[in-house]
Amino acid sequence: MNVLEVSGLNKVYPGKVHTQALTDIHLSIEEGEFVGIMGPSGSGKTTLLNMVSTIDQPTSGSVKISGTDPFLMNKKDLALFRRRRLGFVFQDFNLLETLTVAENIVLPLTLDKRRLSEMDVMLGQAADRLGIRDILNKRTYEISGGQRQRTAIARAMIASPSLLLADEPTGALDSAASRKVMESLEDINRLERTTIMLVTHDPLAASYCHRIVFIKDGKLAAEIHRGDNRQAFFQKIIDTLSFWGGNSHELSSIRV
Ligand SMILES: Nc1ncnc2c1ncn2[C@@H]1O[C@H](COP(=O)(O)OP(=O)(O)O)[C@@H](O)[C@H]1O
Ligand SMILES: [Mg+2]
Repeated sequence: MNVLEVSGLNKVYPGKVHTQALTDIHLSIEEGEFVGIMGPSGSGKTTLLNMVSTIDQPTSGSVKISGTDPFLMNKKDLALFRRRRLGFVFQDFNLLETLTVAENIVLPLTLDKRRLSEMDVMLGQAADRLGIRDILNKRTYEISGGQRQRTAIARAMIASPSLLLADEPTGALDSAASRKVMESLEDINRLERTTIMLVTHDPLAASYCHRIVFIKDGKLAAEIHRGDNRQAFFQKIIDTLSFWGGNSHELSSIRV
């Protein structure tokens, strides 16, 4: 069964000016896939992610996660579903400054009232996976941006979600930190078999994905697959972006 099945999805933002943000989107993601969503600014990437993450409702069409339509659930079940089945990573990390790194990571488990001994084991495993064991007792303002994002990823994956959703996770990071964050996501996908859907406009970040879906003006425009050479895939991403109208002219100086 597919982890994600989006069909005939439309999103209109009503208002003085109607915005048709998404038009007839069909997208399936299989278990274990690592899928990137790319497209120019305003093309509908965040809107699509918000429908999948159940933050916002589609105007029509359906979203199914592991066969379940989250929009048919009541509020309480939906909150549980989000906490247990989905993981979220955002550009601005969304960490709580008053808590330590460790406390931030176990937050979803605390809300689920797990046993302390169990939380400890899971914390150790997540911290090792993300390479942040030595900063667990620090506050979030004492660590770098890359470490913050790896903390946020540890929090997103600690409960073994069916689907991990990331919106521009490298958007606030320099290229060295971006690389480390993408390598962490790659590890989680490969070693934990976590299914990942990642929105990015950064071709280097995107080159870590297995498959990239391009959106333009709210419609699916193209799809490319990685194969086993990330360098060649990076070039293919640049070419596809320049064909479909991205910002590739800004990228000529980037090295993979
Ligand atoms: N809450 C909102 N209300 C009205 N229009 C919105 C809202 N969010 C996004 N839009 C519009 O929907 C379109 C897609 O936006 P978005 O999904 O944020 O694109 P992207 O993430 O690709 O930059 C844009 O035209 C944007 O202005
Ligand atoms: Mg966006």
